[in-house]
This record gives sequence, C-alpha cells and structure tokens, in this order.
Amino acid sequence: MTKAIFIRNASQLVTLHGGSDAPRVKAEMSELGIIENGSVWIEDGVIQAVGTDEELAAKYANRLAEAELVDASGKLVTPGLVDPHTHLVHAGSRENEFNMRLQGKTYMEIMNAGGGIHATTRATKAASHEQLYKESYNRLNQFLRHGVTTVEAKSGYGMDWETELKQLEVAKELQEKHVVDVVSTFMGAHAVPKEYKENPDEFVRVLVEDLIPKVAELGLAEFNDVFCEHGVFTPEQSRVILEAGKRHGLIAKIHADEIEPYEGAELAAEVGAISADHLLKASEKGMKAMAEKGVVGVLLPGTAYFLMAESANGRKMIDLGVPVALSTDCNPGSSPTVSLPFIMSLGCLKMGMTPAEVITAATINAAHAINRGREIGSLEIGKKGDVTIFNIENYMKLQYSYGVNHTDTVVKNGRVVVK
Ligand code: NIG
Ligand code: FE
Repeated sequence: MTKAIFIRNASQLVTLHGGSDAPRVKAEMSELGIIENGSVWIEDGVIQAVGTDEELAAKYANRLAEAELVDASGKLVTPGLVDPHTHLVHAGSRENEFNMRLQGKTYMEIMNAGGGIHATTRATKAASHEQLYKESYNRLNQFLRHGVTTVEAKSGYGMDWETELKQLEVAKELQEKHVVDVVSTFMGAHAVPKEYKENPDEFVRVLVEDLIPKVAELGLAEFNDVFCEHGVFTPEQSRVILEAGKRHGLIAKIHADEIEPYEGAELAAEVGAISADHLLKASEKGMKAMAEKGVVGVLLPGTAYFLMAESANGRKMIDLGVPVALSTDCNPGSSPTVSLPFIMSLGCLKMGMTPAEVITAATINAAHAINRGREIGSLEIGKKGDVTIFNIENYMKLQYSYGVNHTDTVVKNGRVVVK
C-alpha cells in the first residue's frame, strides 16, 4: 500500500468530469469542470476524492498527518496530459533533411529518394534493442517533464518482422519499466519498403497474412495504423489492412489526408476507426462522416508547423461535431518534439481552438482516442492518480505563455515523479 497523497488548494483544478463514456464534442469541449481552491486525494494509485480544499480537509481531517502533502497554491492542476499519437520508438534524427527542406525539397521528395521514413528505418534496423530502449526511454523522460503521463507509441520503422518486433518489444519493456504508460500501435503499413516498390500489393499481402496475425497473437499492440496517402498506401489498400487488423482484434487508426486530400477521413468512418489523425486536407464530407461515427480527429499542428504547411481546420471539425484530440506526433521527420503544451498553443493559434478546447483535446479526448476514456483523462473518483501541476494560475496561461515548460510537479499512479 502506498502512502496517500493530498494535492491541495490549486488556484484552478481542471477536473473535466463527466466525459468518461464518450469523447466530448462541440460545446462540451469547453466544459472544464474547474474547481477553484481545488484539491485531490489519491490513495493506492487511484483518485479517491475531488473537491474544494475546504471539503477535502474536512473529509480527511483525521488522516492529514499520514498523507504526503503537495501544496498547489497559486498553481494550475490538470489531469496528466495524454499524447495519443507518437512514433516514440525510433533511432537517430534527421536534421539533415530539415536543412534540405529549408532549401526547398519537400517531405515526399526526400522520402521517395530513399530518405525520410526509409532513413529512420535504416537507423532503427541497425540499432540494438538496448540502444532503441535507451533512446526511447530518454524521450519518455522528456515527455514526463512536459506533463505527459500516457503516450501512444507506433511501430513502423522496420516494415519487416524482425524490426517491427524489436520496436514493439521495446514499447512493451518501456510500459513495464518506465513510469509513463505506453500504449502500443502496430504500424507496419508506414511506408512501402523499397523491395516491394514494384509490387506494393504483395507487401499488403505480407502485412495482412503474416505480420498482423503475428502481432495480434503475441498481444504486442492494441491498434493497427496505416499511412493512407498518395504515393504510400491507397484508400483501398488501407481498407484491406485495417479490416485485417480488425479481424485479429486490433482497433483501426489511420494517418489520413495529411499531404493531399485522399478520402482518408471518409475511410476512417467507414471502417469504424477509433481515430483519424492529421486531417490537414480532410474534406467536409469526411469530417461529417467522422462526426456521425464518433471517430476522434487527432490533430497534429506541430507537424504542419514543422512541414511549413497549413494546419488542419480544428475549428471547423469541432463545429461539425468531430471529437477533437491533440498530439505531438513525436517523430524524427515531421515533428521532433515532446512538448504537448506547445502543440496546445498551436491548437489555439493555428487551428482556431479556444484554450478550454485544447485542454479537453489533450486530456479526456486524447484518452478516448486510445480507448482509455474510462481510466485516465479526467480527475474523477476511481480514475488513475495521474495529475500534472503547472506553475501558472490559470488554464489560459498554458497556451498564452507559449514555448515555456510550465510543468512544476507530476504525479503518476499516485506518486510524485517530477518535482
Ligand atoms: O505522422 N506521416 C507519416 N508518418 C509520420 C512521419 C514519420 C517520419 O517522417 O519519420 C507522421 O508525420
Ligand atoms: Fe504519425
């Protein structure tokens, strides 16, 4: 039994209560459930009570001495942030390509010339399990220092069994050993390996008949993702890959309409994906189909920023009823960052979202995008004791004072892990 922890007297305690059953849409995205002078009591890793400091101090009057006290006076307290889309497990970096892009080469040109995802694939193939684990472990530490307590992690820098397996095993080991929760996604369909360039359908067959069944059998992933993009996987190939995952119990996710409009949003709704991610070029029809099916739109404005592209239209998606979440897309090619708070600022400045909406997008809606809406993403009795304390007085300042890491204290599973 761990010691109880009592987080006291936050100037704003953002609870986000009431959103556990379904992701929040439209005006619900602005309902933060703020308690002023708010406190939380956590025990055995689980939230036991949430209320004003006065209420909780009275409730636990005869147990105050036994709890670890965390004074949050003058500070903002939120649920631990959730990042629902990362390529956490990879080796190396690609600042050389960054430089090439600044001189006019495009992301796709670099990839088609054997760089991009292929370059990171070579580095990831060459890295040992231990090297990959160490690099990814360090990145998780950085996520945690930015207030993130749960991270989704995709494979996809192998595209052969050996390397995909290595990435998924690293993710599994991180989940076991690192305090941040790591939720695993298989993304063998991240690019078409060059040996299949002339016959991409054969690679689709390998994914469907060999890799997906093996991943599912070993229980190494919960989700199956595909890069549905002109020049990568067609909507038809993507459908086949996602349906195969579903047959093996893997929930569908999709990188959709990132670089060109390709009816990825429509496909996400059709196959019942839990989320469609990127969506820079999604059509209105696709957005409406997502809204109807409750597909979470995971928006990645850091990727648009880094690729010097126009961001997805977050405002329009929210107005049409798409449940919107936000993520870093942390990866070495299109978004080498771990700062979800910076992404939240971009959500406001580049996608027309309000500060309240971006908080929802990086907590409860992000949790729903990875099927964790009942466990994390809000401060409610029975949820995991994952809490982030920011050294600012109110939630608007988190986006307003951008590019600054305001994280003060992080509590994970009811233990102080960053101070
Ligand atoms: O989400 N779009 C495809 N995959 C990643 C980028 C991966 C890379 O460039 O290494 C993304 O942007
Ligand atoms: Fe991605």
